[in-house]
Amino acid sequence: MAPQTLSKSRVTAALALSSFPLAVRAASRSDYISNALNATDVLNQNWYDSTNGLWQDLCAAPSSNGGTWLNDYYDDEAWWALAWIAAFDITQDINYLCTARSIFQDLTTGLDATGGGQWWSKDRDYIASINNELFLAVAASLANRSPNDGTDYRTYAINQADWLIYHSGLMNSDDLFVDGLDPSTCTPGSHTTVWTYNQGAILGGLVELYRLTSDTSYLDTADSIAHGTLLHLTNTGILTEPGYPGPPDATAAHFKGVFVRNLAKLQGVRGDENYVSFLQRNADSIWNSDREGNGEIGPDWQGPLFDASMASQSSGIDCLVAAAAVS
Ligand SMILES: *[C@@H]1O[C@H](CO)[C@@H](O)[C@H](O)[C@H]1NC(C)=O
Repeated sequence: MAPQTLSKSRVTAALALSSFPLAVRAASRSDYISNALNATDVLNQNWYDSTNGLWQDLCAAPSSNGGTWLNDYYDDEAWWALAWIAAFDITQDINYLCTARSIFQDLTTGLDATGGGQWWSKDRDYIASINNELFLAVAASLANRSPNDGTDYRTYAINQADWLIYHSGLMNSDDLFVDGLDPSTCTPGSHTTVWTYNQGAILGGLVELYRLTSDTSYLDTADSIAHGTLLHLTNTGILTEPGYPGPPDATAAHFKGVFVRNLAKLQGVRGDENYVSFLQRNADSIWNSDREGNGEIGPDWQGPLFDASMASQSSGIDCLVAAAAVS
């Protein structure tokens, strides 16, 4: 943590804000919190089915998956591991951590990808950024929470970060992670799209690795990626997915939420007023331009609202929560 840096940047942000006219002043922390609570109530009222415990009949693991958290996709598995780690952080219930550890054991079975890193799936025909970034985040998170359980999470995390940053070829000249690598060439080939979530998951992994090692070079890399994203994946300051307007599919409506919640984590250890104003501007735009009167949030944060879904709603909640966290 760098509390002095953080509070200094907060003062700077406050001074900068005070010179703006009232109309563009960001909402307050308590506004963001009450907006996030409203959006969460809408999510649960409109898309949660209490009879089967599912949101919009998605996220059905493990009932639709043979009673296990494992499947053929290493990114799916790692998302679930991170969710259980978050559940452990809130509850301190060791069962959640044990579930994440057992998922991690399966994640290691994909680590022999051509050219290094982890295969995307058990079909072993693609090497995606997302699962490799999530593997870093899970390994570093478990290292910070699982001392001496017999698995060397720390070495897994450090090696994975080293490969991702210096050897994979996944980061392009704008400091952005492309979608993945073609295993026949170990280059991106046609997989050069830069999705917002691929800039987000890596930030969370690097922040955990910094907490583990106190090595600030990981935060320098995270800053480069975050600033590259603010520069190249925005439209008038609003986070924008490739293919705008409209997300390419329902799953992609989740992506921006992954970036903003991890940017808030980075802001927690390295204060940067650019991150604060960015998160506030995006949360304000969601609230003012991308909502229905009934509180539903759509996939394009600059609006106008269309095709609200469980995914676009939860992604919007991520941004409202992130703005509250940094305000
Ligand atoms: C959320 O706020 C909107 C107004 O912005 C309101 O119409 C809606 O009823 C609220 N929903 C819940 C569940 O509180």
